Amino acid sequence: MKALANKVALVTGAASGIGRATALLFAQEGAAVALVDINQEQGQAATAEIESNGGMALFIRCDVTSASDCRAAVEKTVAKFGSLNILFNNAGIIRRADVLGTTEEEWERVMAVNVKSIFLMSKYAIPHMEAAGGGSIINTSSGWGLKGGGNAVSYCASKGAVTNMTRAMAIDHGPKNIRVNSICPGDTDTPMLRNEAKQLGEPESKFMAESAERPLQRFAQPLEIAQSVLFLASDAASYVTGAALVVDGGGLA
Ligand SMILES: NC(=O)c1ccc[n+]([C@@H]2O[C@H](COP(=O)([O-])OP(=O)(O)OC[C@H]3O[C@@H](n4cnc5c(N)ncnc54)[C@H](O)[C@@H]3O)[C@@H](O)[C@H]2O)c1
Repeated sequence: MKALANKVALVTGAASGIGRATALLFAQEGAAVALVDINQEQGQAATAEIESNGGMALFIRCDVTSASDCRAAVEKTVAKFGSLNILFNNAGIIRRADVLGTTEEEWERVMAVNVKSIFLMSKYAIPHMEAAGGGSIINTSSGWGLKGGGNAVSYCASKGAVTNMTRAMAIDHGPKNIRVNSICPGDTDTPMLRNEAKQLGEPESKFMAESAERPLQRFAQPLEIAQSVLFLASDAASYVTGAALVVDGGGLA
């Protein structure tokens, strides 16, 4: 029996990196998957890859900062697949700058994409999970949702908010059998990570070498984060809620 047989999942930020790897893994484990992203070309390519592997998938173009887009994404998922059991709130952006180097617009965008999106998608998804008798929500935080980091003030604020709103949601929705957990990845080889080197004006090779400085002496591959998300999504985690699961090669140890 596959881990997510007969489940319906919605993954945001599914066109790239951790979201893409998770959407593919969810589908491989039997879920019907709605891939939600603003990047239509890459989102459709990931959807086609799932379908060519025999999986069930639907691409939905959606800006997760827009209430009407989020509502439509949930409604389209339920219309196509009949219910919604798993929500992976994963879309995110980073601005590598301190308070002085961050504009008000950048601050608001980071908070909207990384935090408000979770509020919006959950608002529209939870009633469907209640109707289905329960569900699992996984929010992507970060190691920087548990400790501070340099030149990333808006990102650290946003991920701290993700970690704690996850706990609050676990308290509110536990009685309806909806589990809510966050995942806290360490540096993972995605376009976002490599873009950080550009933002900081550092050579990519130096930045990536520093990313590997942790007990396991390497950065993560997206599939390694996806496997932990799969655990939280599945019945194997049936008594896990309100947790912040650190998957970082020992970086915070
Ligand atoms: N890569 C890392 O090292 C790392 C570490 C810790 C946490 N994270 C978190 O993991 C999550 C995924 O990041 P990633 O590294 O896979 O990045 P990525 O850039 O590869 O993927 C992010 C995806 O989010 C989408 N997205 C951005 N804004 C959006 C919006 N407004 N609406 C819909 N989609 C939008 C992008 O189009 C992209 O497909 C993020 O929340 C990030 O903060 C990443």
